[in-house]
Formats: sequence, structure tokens, C-alpha cells
Amino acid sequence: ETGHFTYDPGFTSTGSCESKITFIDGDKGVLLYRGYPIEQLAEKSDFMEVCYLLVYGELPDRGELDKFKYRITYHTMIHEQINYFFRGFRRDSHPMAIMCGVVGALSAFYHDSTDISDPVHRFVASTRLIAKMPTIAATAYRYSMGMPFAYPRNDLSFSENFLYMMFSNPCEEYVVNPVLARAMDRILILHADHEQNASTSTVRIAGSSGANPFACIAAGIASLWGPAHGGANEAVLSMLEHIGTKDHIPEYIARAKDKNDPFRLMGFGHRVYKNFDPRARVMRQAAHDVLDELGVRDDPLLDLAMELERIALEDDYFVSKKLYPNVDFYSGIIFKAMGIPTSMFTVLFAVARTVGWVAQWNEMIEDPMQKIGRPRQLFTGSGPRDYVDIAARG
Ligand code: SDX
Repeated sequence: ETGHFTYDPGFTSTGSCESKITFIDGDKGVLLYRGYPIEQLAEKSDFMEVCYLLVYGELPDRGELDKFKYRITYHTMIHEQINYFFRGFRRDSHPMAIMCGVVGALSAFYHDSTDISDPVHRFVASTRLIAKMPTIAATAYRYSMGMPFAYPRNDLSFSENFLYMMFSNPCEEYVVNPVLARAMDRILILHADHEQNASTSTVRIAGSSGANPFACIAAGIASLWGPAHGGANEAVLSMLEHIGTKDHIPEYIARAKDKNDPFRLMGFGHRVYKNFDPRARVMRQAAHDVLDELGVRDDPLLDLAMELERIALEDDYFVSKKLYPNVDFYSGIIFKAMGIPTSMFTVLFAVARTVGWVAQWNEMIEDPMQKIGRPRQLFTGSGPRDYVDIAARG
């Protein structure tokens, strides 16, 4: 006897919920943040303005934006004791492991922002999470490199500060490359939110029980880490490096089509998009722009990725299954050109997606009808039966 799906107001059995934040039309390849097309935001906005839009629902005026930027800037530093958590990790720990641990540890601090019934607490927790993620991410990187930790600088923009905290050397002056800062800002915009993806759903369902917001974001980081989700950007680079040259592409295309082969074309396909992921188009152009501006001609990885995309999009298997490049297909090429190590690619995704997680968490908590998430199941196990003593078992 099997069970059945029942509708749960908090989450239906498919895990869906109501939201006003991000709209996706997977068939048309449309992505809107609070109604604004991602293409326009990536071209004309900046990450701080997009953070304000996602959290508050409207584009800010100059005064609102300056006040928001000030609040974020003056929360970028982390409690000095938190630095001890990094030193408990092995130097070769994956930075996403460190992010899970350190962000989760924030739940043991900041008791003035963990009472989720208090709007002020929610506001402070949200601000701290958006502001401190780059500092924690950069510190995880510096720890893995054996470099002294860098404190944030209040005279730099969010993206400039992130690059500064990642790459500055205390023995010499560090000048932020405006090309890299602009590229970082666009990439953060493209990754900021994406409706009810696996990690956002994780944050929502963790938060639906009233759990500590910092711990909920740590749960989102854990989900994002997987290669089927945010970990795909790191896996794309590894795949391209394994393919090596264009003449090996057909072999990997064949493997991706072989149901007996677990290999999948990383950076391709999407649960929702059955057309081009609009972010992939912007990312592909950004890859060209950044490489041009950095004077990198004929980057072999970009050439290989473009050829792989061309061949896959002409292949009946990928066409019939509507598999197109997604946001992760080109992002790693840009990150690599920016000097960011592969192990940090998903960390950057987490830095960007924190605002989406925070916006979606707030939207859920503020909903007076919100209930604890409790997806149901289709039971396919054994029906009722009586206990058998071990002496009588075969
Ligand atoms: C992100 O949800 C989000 O919004 C996520 C994200 C976000 O911003 O939060 O957009 C970010 O996670 C992007 C996805 C990154 N992951 C990858 O690039 C990993 C490679 N892609 C696949 O693992 C896969 O496409 C998924 C996980 C993204 C989607 O998996 P699904 O839901 O199983 O894919 P599907 O239902 O669209 O699959 C349709 C068919 C299946 O074959 P059949 O069962 O019909 O025979 O296409 C096949 C899949 O096996 N398929 C692939 C494939 N992706 C799907 N075959 C080969 N290579 C692939 N990449």
C-alpha cells in the first residue's frame, strides 16, 4: 500500500512556495529580480544596489543607497575571536568546508540578531551576513595560502574590498584593478538570487523552524557546495582541463550521452531553464570583455568552452533534452583569468547568493501565514507487518 502527496501550506510536496523576489521563465530564458531583467541589472546596476533591490523590493534613491552601503561597509569586520575558527582547519581544507564551519559559528556570536521574531534582530542579522561573507571568504582563502589575514577597508566598494582582502600583500601597496572589480560586481549580480533553487530551499526550510539565521545560511552553503549546484563552476574548469583540446570534445559529448556513464557535461542543463540561461549569455560576454581588458588573447579554455558549446548545441541529444549552458559554464573561466583559484569559485557563488538567501529568508519569516516546512513523500516501503523474533528468522 503506498502513501500519497498532501498539500502543505508551507511547502507543497514539490517544495514550492510563494515569493515576490525572483521570477524565472525557463522556457523563454527569462530571469527578473523584482521585475527587472537580469541583463539590464548586470549592465547598468552594481551589486550593492541589487542587494537593496532584492531585500527591499524597489531600486533605492541616492540617499537610500548611500545609507545601505554605509551600513554594509560598517559591518564588514568580523569579531576578532572568529579568526580562531579558521586556525582549527587543516591548511588544505576546501574553502567551502571552512565557509560552512565559520558561518555556522557566527550563530554562537551576535546574540543581538538571532531573535527572528524581532524585526530589528532580522535586519541586523541580514546586514551582518551580506557584509561579512566577503571577509570570511577572503580569510578562508588567505588561511589556505598561509597569508596573514587582511582587514576590510571602508574606503573601497564591496567588490573592490573583496579583491583587496583576497589578494593584498601587507608588504606592498595593493591597487585594485577596476576591470577586475567591475567584473566581480557583475558576477555577484548574476549569482545573487535564483528563485527556489536547492540552497535557497535549504535556507527556507531550515529557517521555517525558527532556527538561528546564521546557522540557516550555513545550511545553504552546504547545499550550494554540491557539484550539481554551485559546485558546478569548479567542476566545469576541471572538465575543460580534462578535455584539454578540441579534438577530445566528441569523446566527452559521447560520454555525456551514455546513460551507463555517470559523466555529465558540467555547466550544461538546468532543472528550470529549457532554453539558454540568460546569465550564461551575460557571463560569456563578460568572459570576452575581461580577457580582452586583461590583454589575454586567445585564452585556450575560453576557445575550448566556446567550441564545446557550439558542438553540444548542434547535437540532437542536447537539443532534444533542451540542455543549454547555465550560469556555471563560463564563470570559472572569468574567475581563473582574475587569478582566483578553482577551489574558491563556489565560495564566490556563496558570497553572491547570500543576499538571495537573506532576502528569501526574510520574506518567509515576515509572512504571517508562514508555517514550518514539512514536505511529504510517496511511501513505497513495506506495509504493516508483525515482529519476528530473531530465533525464528531465516
Ligand atoms: C545551478 O536550481 C537553480 O536555479 C540552480 C542554479 C542557481 O542559480 O541556483 O541555477 C545554479 O546549480 C546551475 C546548475 C549547475 N549544475 C551543472 O551544471 C551540473 C551539470 N548539470 C546537471 O547535473 C543537470 O543538468 C542539473 C543537475 C543541473 C539538472 O538535473 P536534472 O534536473 O536531472 O536535469 P533535467 O531534468 O533537465 O535532465 C533532463 C535529461 C536527463 O536525462 P533523462 O533522465 O531525461 O534521460 O537531461 C539529462 C538528464 O540525465 N541531463 C544531462 C545533463 N543535464 C541533464 N545529460 C548530460 N549532461 C548534462 N549536463
